[in-house]
Amino acid sequence: MDAAPIGVVGTGYVGLVSAVCFAHLGHDVLCMDVDEAKIARLERGEVPIFEPGLEKLVSDNAARLSFTTSYDVLLDSCHILFIAVDTPPSPSGDADLSRVQYAVREIAARHGERLLVMKSTVPVGTGEKVMADLEALGAAGITYASNPEFLREGAAIQDFLEPDRIVIGSFREEDGAVVESLYRGIDTNVVRTSVPTAEMVKYASNAFLATKISFINEIANVCEQVGADVKTVAHGMGLDHRIGPHFLQAGIGYGGSCFPKDVQALKQLAGNSGYHFQLLNAVIEVNALQKRRVVGKLKERLGGLRGATVALLGLTFKPNTDDLREAASIVLAGRLIHEGVSVKAYDPMLDAGDHPLFPGVEICAEPVEALEGADAAVLVTEWPEFARLDWAAAAGAMARPLLIDGRNFVEPAVAAEAGLEYEGIGLGDVVPAPVAG
Ligand SMILES: NC(=O)c1ccc[n+]([C@@H]2O[C@H](COP(=O)([O-])OP(=O)(O)OC[C@H]3O[C@@H](n4cnc5c(N)ncnc54)[C@H](O)[C@@H]3O)[C@@H](O)[C@H]2O)c1
Repeated sequence: MDAAPIGVVGTGYVGLVSAVCFAHLGHDVLCMDVDEAKIARLERGEVPIFEPGLEKLVSDNAARLSFTTSYDVLLDSCHILFIAVDTPPSPSGDADLSRVQYAVREIAARHGERLLVMKSTVPVGTGEKVMADLEALGAAGITYASNPEFLREGAAIQDFLEPDRIVIGSFREEDGAVVESLYRGIDTNVVRTSVPTAEMVKYASNAFLATKISFINEIANVCEQVGADVKTVAHGMGLDHRIGPHFLQAGIGYGGSCFPKDVQALKQLAGNSGYHFQLLNAVIEVNALQKRRVVGKLKERLGGLRGATVALLGLTFKPNTDDLREAASIVLAGRLIHEGVSVKAYDPMLDAGDHPLFPGVEICAEPVEALEGADAAVLVTEWPEFARLDWAAAAGAMARPLLIDGRNFVEPAVAAEAGLEYEGIGLGDVVPAPVAG
């Protein structure tokens, strides 16, 4: 193994997980971040994000991991540099590449032979632009590969160590081979290709998954009109191996740090190159409307919203993460407050009190506190602990035991048994299972 450590620039969800997993595979890894507080915590052995299993993997591999906030320190010892900085949406909808560009300039300023490996999600054409920038900066010794990341928050370690595929795009064959060698020990499909193709695999994958979600959400909305049950429809569809069961759970729309920005960025990318990507427009619009459908359901059930109290159960964009980026809860809470509703909320990742993303929302320490006296509850995030909630006690604590299940997470029969008035997304008329015999 190369004696030099692998460098990882950016220690967020992707950078830290990648670094720790590379360490687990036997590499020494030097992690660099401009966030001094984050690096200080990591140096103390603390993990600044919540990701199941990460704390243990960090401590198991502590001997192979080191941390710095200095590009000088990073570039004094590393030849292979993974870039895993954030690429958030810009106001135009294009990906904001300023952090990537910053990192590239810092690396270019310290001459040397290096291989830059892009793990951040970047628009197709970024690799070619970075190479042109490097040439303009006179950094001739730097080569480039694209190695997009497909991990899911909440299952990130497993996704990294047991991926469905590893995609590597490179301008030179030997650079792709170097990147592939770093994953030795992982048995999976490896797709070696050009840089633009690798960049497109990432965008196309996320856009397709988002399309599946918006598709099933529209089916759910039609199910509500015609009295069909979307859960059974999805089950029946998913058994067809050409379709598959994944990403067919109807709900209140996708959120998170990836799907919204990546779908938007692909739409912009197509538009910038003269192609109108109609399908993605619909995917985005359906998702935006889906986040608001719950408000309509509440209005209809409660006969108006002004003065009502609503409890939101779960705020993170999905369970098993502390990530709130683009969470449906943000739109929902904002809409409800705008309608004159008192909003209380509970999420296992959030402390009681106020939170800047949820102005006016009272965040409670326990679910029952949020439910106490509420006219309705909305299940926003399907945290496993909600499956174990005493729903009968919840119903008893509420002023009106109405549960709008934004994730179709609670079985309607369980809700009925607990005395809850229940509505999911697209559940139509649930037909009881035939009695055996
Ligand atoms: N989060 C996911 O589930 C996921 C999955 C696949 C791909 N991605 C992509 O990976 C990239 C990173 O996402 P993330 O969720 O890990 O982001 P993040 O915001 O959690 O982490 C980014 C880190 O980069 C650091 N950083 C920013 N600018 C820097 C610079 N110039 N030098 C050094 N460090 C810098 C930040 O301080 C932060 O710690 C994005 O492009 C994202 O689209 C994310």
